[in-house]
Amino acid sequence: MVGETGSGKSTFVKLLTRLADPSSGRVLLGGVPLTDVPLASLRRRVVMVPQDGFLFNTTVGENIRYSRPDVGDDEVRGALADLGLTGWVESLPHGLGTEAGPRGEALSAGERQLVALARAYLADPDLLVLDEATSAVDPATEQRLQRALETATRGRTAVSVAHRLSTAEAADRVLVFDAGRIVQQGTHEELAARPGRYADLYAAWQSATEGDASRT
Ligand SMILES: Nc1ncnc2c1ncn2[C@@H]1O[C@H](COP(=O)(O)OP(=O)(O)OP(=O)(O)O)[C@@H](O)[C@H]1O
Ligand SMILES: [Mg+2]
Repeated sequence: MVGETGSGKSTFVKLLTRLADPSSGRVLLGGVPLTDVPLASLRRRVVMVPQDGFLFNTTVGENIRYSRPDVGDDEVRGALADLGLTGWVESLPHGLGTEAGPRGEALSAGERQLVALARAYLADPDLLVLDEATSAVDPATEQRLQRALETATRGRTAVSVAHRLSTAEAADRVLVFDAGRIVQQGTHEELAARPGRYADLYAAWQSATEGDASRT
C-alpha cells in the first residue's frame, strides 16, 4: 500500500486488524467477515508491526518475547538468527538485556521496528501486517529491516504499508491510496509504466533517494 501522508493507509491497516471497525461496510479476510472471527483467534493469526513502533519499558529480549511469554532466550536468539539480527543485538550495550526505555525511546524508530518485527516473527502469524516507519531510518538499519522482512514474510501473506518504494517494487500487488480511496492497483511494473498517481509517487521517491546507493 502506497500513498501520500494522510491518504488512509494506516486506517486501512487498522480496519484489517480490527483496531477499528468500519462505520459502514464490512471487512472480509479470506471471505470471512472479521466480525465473525473471535478476537483471540484474530490476534493470534493476524499480527501487526505498527508504524509508531511502541515498545514496553523493559529489555529488548522481553519486548521480543511479549507475544510468546512461554519461550526462552534460546528461542528468541534462534528467531533473531533466522532474521539476520544476531549481529545487531550483540552490538547493543547489553545485548538482549538492553533496556528499550520508556516507549522504547532508547532505540531509533528503525530499531523499534526491528524489535516489533522479531516479536511478530516469533508469534508466527498467518498474516503479517506491516506499517513501515515514516521517520528516517539509517541505511544500515534499513538494510537489516529489508533482510529481516524477507525472512519474516516467507511462506505467509504479508500486507505492508510502503514508504520506501523498494518495498512496493518487491510486492506481488500494489494498492495506491489517495484521499481515503484506492485509486490504482497492479504490479509495480504495470503501475510504473503508465502515467498516474503511482508513477508520480515513484518519480518523487526516486529523485529523493537519488545518489543514495543503499536505497535503490
Ligand atoms: N481516529 C481518527 N479519527 C478521525 N480521523 C482520523 C483518525 N485517524 C486518522 N484520521 C485521519 O484520516 C486520514 C488518513 O490517516 P492515516 O493515518 O490512515 O494516513 P496514512 O496514509 O497512514 O498517512 P502516513 O503516510 O502519514 O502514515 C487523515 O486525514 C487523518 O488525519
Ligand atoms: Mg500511516
